[in-house]
Amino acid sequence: MADAQWWRTAAIYQIYIRSFADGDGDGIGDIAGIRSRLGYLAQLGVDAIWITPWYASPNNDGGYDVRDYRAIDPTYGDLREAELLIGEAHQHGLRVILDIVPNHTSTDHPWFQAALVSPPGSPERARYHFVDGRGPGGELPPNDWRSTFGGSAWQRVTEADGEPGQWYLHLFDPTQADLNWSDPEVHREFLDILRFWFDRGVDGFRIDVATGLVKHPGYPDLGYREEDLLVLTNVPDHPHRDRDGVHAIYRDWRTLAGEYDPPRIFVAEAWVADSERLARYVAPGQLHTTFNFPFLQSAWDAGELSSVIESTLHAMSRVGAPPTWVLSNHDVERTVTRYGRADTRKQPGRSGHELGPVDIELGRRRARAAILLMLALPGVAYLYQGEELGLPDHMDIPVDRIQDPIWTRSGGRRRGRDGCRVPLPWTLDPKGAGFGSADPWLPQPHGWETHSVQSQLDDPTSMYHLVARALRIRRNLGAAPELEWVVRSDSVLHFRRGPALECIVNFGATEVPVPAGAVPLLRSDTIDATPDPLGPDTAAWLRPRG
Ligand code: GLC
Repeated sequence: MADAQWWRTAAIYQIYIRSFADGDGDGIGDIAGIRSRLGYLAQLGVDAIWITPWYASPNNDGGYDVRDYRAIDPTYGDLREAELLIGEAHQHGLRVILDIVPNHTSTDHPWFQAALVSPPGSPERARYHFVDGRGPGGELPPNDWRSTFGGSAWQRVTEADGEPGQWYLHLFDPTQADLNWSDPEVHREFLDILRFWFDRGVDGFRIDVATGLVKHPGYPDLGYREEDLLVLTNVPDHPHRDRDGVHAIYRDWRTLAGEYDPPRIFVAEAWVADSERLARYVAPGQLHTTFNFPFLQSAWDAGELSSVIESTLHAMSRVGAPPTWVLSNHDVERTVTRYGRADTRKQPGRSGHELGPVDIELGRRRARAAILLMLALPGVAYLYQGEELGLPDHMDIPVDRIQDPIWTRSGGRRRGRDGCRVPLPWTLDPKGAGFGSADPWLPQPHGWETHSVQSQLDDPTSMYHLVARALRIRRNLGAAPELEWVVRSDSVLHFRRGPALECIVNFGATEVPVPAGAVPLLRSDTIDATPDPLGPDTAAWLRPRG
């Protein structure tokens, strides 16, 4: 655990706490569940875990609506257990990354509650975006900004005299009020929250909605079109995304992280349009890393993926930051499902049956090849829980069980993100698949136990074994050289990492021979290292000879 540069090459496993493992039998994942599975994660071979928000929260958006940033939600445990988990993870050789939510608080947060009972213009209201409405009586929202989850981004409040009053901004659910980062108290508070957790041994933070903190002070109209929702930002001078002012905030955060030994680290959730904009978040003095969503968004296509890889490597090396790679998370369809469609690009804000039929076998074959591609690339790789099991999305959650606020905010037009958040299958028990003793908070699809850890441990060709073997080889690569292309065509990506590793991925419809001189290490179809030609949608790892 001594290596202060660990974050430059780490494999990081995302734990969506509600759905990882249920230790206390209430049907909801928790800290006890995570503690009981640390051995599993260490054995899988990841270097760190990122835990999605576990703070006190009314849970209207999976905990991304925080009531108290220094308390654990009682559903998940308490602070003492959180401290135990951090210590135990470290003993297993796993770093711990938490999720900080600085763009908004829950409307149950004491600050927001104080703002509601304070008058317009008060310091309590200044911590949020309380703005007068348009129209003669202020009855229209201040501008045309839309919530990412659907509908207007403004909600009107009732003032102390019982009359309709100002509007507050919520770029997500109405119960998630956007903070006003031009208020110095907001700055101070978040530095203090970071310190609170760093002092408890936390190794770093993922920054939720990292591009969103600074808003245009004049709140100008954006001219939104509905179909722009959730897409990567590419509007110049966007009034609430990727504004220059966010970088000053992160310079202060970086300074704070640097005061610790070893220094703590950050990863930004930054949905921006291109690698150059992304690089601004990780320029010297800024954050350490950022998610690479252009990689996740890309179709299963050799040309598209290789140009994202190239532009990422170029943009990151220019600022001295490691490249990062991610294929799935708790906000997007799982790769097995997405890659099984005719159109394999990530569709902004859409999921499930509305996107057409899925060929699961095709999706699975591609997801297995994709994970070898990702894990062969230099830098940091993120795995989302269940990705190592090749889980598909649950496409048929009964509508009365859907939890994602996107469902109600879109008036039942979009099912949202629950399909990728289904509680994990651990055992062959057909009831609950070993997630916990009670009915899971989100229903699991029929036959979920067949994907379980237990069944995959027994199957030498399973996705679990593929990922575990790849992680072991990857860990031994150490500081392998940067990527050098051998073939970069419409149907084949083939690259070398010096004498350490060669990776070939066949995206085409015909077989591709494996180079004769190299030693086969691992392949996505059979797992066993064979020199046979690669079929369609298949990847192989080899060690160059000599
Ligand atoms: C991020 C989270 C997502 C959440 C949103 C609002 O995009 O990943 O799950 O709904 O922020 O906090």
